Amino acid sequence: MHIAIIGTGYVGLVTGACFAEFGVFVTCVDKDQEKIKKLKKGIIPFFEPGLEDIVKRNLKENRLKFTTHIDEAINESLVVFIAVGTPPRGDGSANLEYVEEVAKKIAKYMTNYKVIVTKSTVPVGTGFMIKEIIKKNLEKPVEFDIVSNPEFLREGSAVEDFMRPNRVVIGAESEQAIAIMKDLYRPLYLIETPFVITDIVTAELIKYATNSFLATKISFINEISALCEAVGANVNTVAKAMGLDGRIGPKFLHAGIGFGGSCLPKDTMALVKIAEEKGVELNIVKSAIEANQRQRERLTAKIINAFNNDIQGKTIGILGLSFKPNTDDIRESPALYIIQTLLNKKALIKVYDPAAMENTKNIFPNITYCSDPYSVAKDADALAIVTEWNQFRNLDIEKIKNIMKSNFFFDFRNIYEPQKMKQLGFKYFSVGRH
Ligand code: UDX
Repeated sequence: MHIAIIGTGYVGLVTGACFAEFGVFVTCVDKDQEKIKKLKKGIIPFFEPGLEDIVKRNLKENRLKFTTHIDEAINESLVVFIAVGTPPRGDGSANLEYVEEVAKKIAKYMTNYKVIVTKSTVPVGTGFMIKEIIKKNLEKPVEFDIVSNPEFLREGSAVEDFMRPNRVVIGAESEQAIAIMKDLYRPLYLIETPFVITDIVTAELIKYATNSFLATKISFINEISALCEAVGANVNTVAKAMGLDGRIGPKFLHAGIGFGGSCLPKDTMALVKIAEEKGVELNIVKSAIEANQRQRERLTAKIINAFNNDIQGKTIGILGLSFKPNTDDIRESPALYIIQTLLNKKALIKVYDPAAMENTKNIFPNITYCSDPYSVAKDADALAIVTEWNQFRNLDIEKIKNIMKSNFFFDFRNIYEPQKMKQLGFKYFSVGRH
């Protein structure tokens, strides 16, 4: 089978490369000439473990190709995936201009039956909007079907999540489209991956509801962490015991500085907006968004309060800039909020991150970028761990203590043990633990 993927961002490129790995012939399209030129050489424009190998292998075996010519890609494909960005607008709603642009191009170049698939996270009802746009822009009648096939890829483990998904969700209106999608996903069918076959609107809502529930779990345990600090309980133990309840599960119950990234913040806001437009209040999702903002404010205040609000001229070291480990993505990263807040109070900032420093330099060109965690700690008045990269899990803590100017240590991902850190002489602050 031959498919086209429109949009070679983190969703489109992973989807295209992994389908090629399944033996499908894939044409990935992007309007960014520079990006396509690099992709043709197997150069990946972002950090995603395992993706480069898959792209290079399938390029070599001629199952994967890249082009800026969307007309060719559409004409040679039976299935066309729309995987372009749906960035949030100021009011939280999703910006669909790129999706609409692609739908018009599909109508312009489509000459025979196609299955048009929305892969990007799109507001409920977008499938029907695309259908209307195509029908209106077709120069002559051509049969097509719309399918919603939302992605559940986590950055840093996107290839793994594609190859071994918990489920594949397919929202469609016709048996023919469902049969084609099942054929496309056959390798996953053969390993007994659960398939949820439903209508388009339900499939679109499944994605938002899933991400919003994940965000709610994180905000729930983060609010409990504040109570743990107030009563002297240990949030890690609370979360562990909660997670042993089969109805709750252990994942997404790690207290920390809160969620960031290009999905949870965007999708929760968009879902609240979609509901509001239908006259429905999603108060739990709204609370999860608010609790997430409060968590980063609450923890940043710990740094400022440790210096009795007199942080001007103090050197604060930050370990971790990406919104989570194993990615260079800093979108909505808590580290950006912390840096901006401390800069506003005229603190001096030193940072290190294994992958995200280049992206951060575009936002904060005037802070100090170091080549390793110890250079950050050297002569720092405080050190904060904001992203739980593996490189930060076994630091030489005694060395850190000896090279810092003062002894404030803020562990916003609960990597280290409070007792041990205090024995080493740190004024140690973490999340939901005494
Ligand atoms: C998320 C969803 O997991 C994925 O299914 C969807 O397709 C896209 O959005 P992603 O945003 O890449 O994936 O990262 P994820 O691993 O979900 O983490 C999101 C944020 O939550 C990160 O900032 C992470 O640090 C934070 N988090 C996650 C916690 O604070 N605690 C947790 O227990 C888990």
